[in-house]
Amino acid sequence: MATAAASPATAPSSFPSTARKSTLPTLRVSRKLKLAPSALSSDPSPAFRSVTAFAPATVANLGPGFDFLGCAVAEASLSLGDTITATLDPALPPGTVAISAVTSPARPDLAARLSRDPLRNCAGIAAAATLRALGIRSHAVSLELAKGLPLGSGLGSSAASAAAAVKAVDALFGSLLSPHELVLAGLESEKAVSGFHADNIAPAILGGFVLVQSYDPFKLVQLPCPPSLRLCFVLVTPDFEAPTSKMRAALPKHVDIGQHVRNASQAAALVASVLLGDAAGIGSAMSSDGIVEPTRAPLIPGMAAVKAAALEAGALGCTISGAGPTAVAVIQGDEKGEQIARRMIDAFWSAGKLKATATIAQLDRAGARVISTSRLE
Ligand code: HSE
Repeated sequence: MATAAASPATAPSSFPSTARKSTLPTLRVSRKLKLAPSALSSDPSPAFRSVTAFAPATVANLGPGFDFLGCAVAEASLSLGDTITATLDPALPPGTVAISAVTSPARPDLAARLSRDPLRNCAGIAAAATLRALGIRSHAVSLELAKGLPLGSGLGSSAASAAAAVKAVDALFGSLLSPHELVLAGLESEKAVSGFHADNIAPAILGGFVLVQSYDPFKLVQLPCPPSLRLCFVLVTPDFEAPTSKMRAALPKHVDIGQHVRNASQAAALVASVLLGDAAGIGSAMSSDGIVEPTRAPLIPGMAAVKAAALEAGALGCTISGAGPTAVAVIQGDEKGEQIARRMIDAFWSAGKLKATATIAQLDRAGARVISTSRLE
């Protein structure tokens, strides 16, 4: 676990004497983080003064892929995701991270609920892990977080903040880390705030569909899917919080061998359908989870009726997104998207007495990306 830098008094003697004393809480890049240290022998130089990166929302599990399958989703305005601006900050002790601003333009109440303590903020933890992976000792970074995703919604909100932070900090120093190292840095944050699972952070960073083949050793497989696959996601989020910890506590402790076989074969069918670009196959496999969804759906008022409504309205498949409460339905092309979204919203209201909002998103094949830079002076 990372530890907070106490004060500039603890900074190395190379701390610039002209620097103003920062009042921001900072996160020192702890040597206790388990990320492999950078192989680079010297401290890399910054490539930019500041970098802004965006990371998309993610749909984890995809039905039978609990904790090992996920995909990135976004829409054209980039509002379905989080944005981080990482800036070199000579006012901070070298090797530290601070959070200088948190905004949430679309949800004014959200920013106030997010900690600016980098120890308690996904972006701060991920940025510190990235500095450590890069071996940065002579520079410090301050972060501005623009939060686009709601919290605890099942859309990979914590992973989006972490992914954008990892991408922005790595780009600040010349994009030296491999995709695998970027995911490991982001996973440090997920481990601290949301649980040790990479099915959100891996697609948030890499884009597209990602299979977590194993955690020890850590192995990811990016699943290519044909460009002809015009997969759309109808994401319907009710006004209801489903904390991941509570939804994980509800998981069954034991699984019947017959059910295991059914789930494993559907997860394999889902992977095959992605590779083949078979939208109907993806939808049918996504709808088939008989282990996790049956224990979580009853905790989300109206979820069973929402799934039934989506399928009746023509969706190819429907399940809980991540740990919920968002319901995700898939379609090929977006023509039926609004109609299906309306039916799902109505079902949340009639069966669960929950107001809900919908977003129609596309598969995001790019993952976390730099959207602007400013040059060194
Ligand atoms: N795989 C995780 C879960 C995702 O379902 O608990 C949480 O976003």
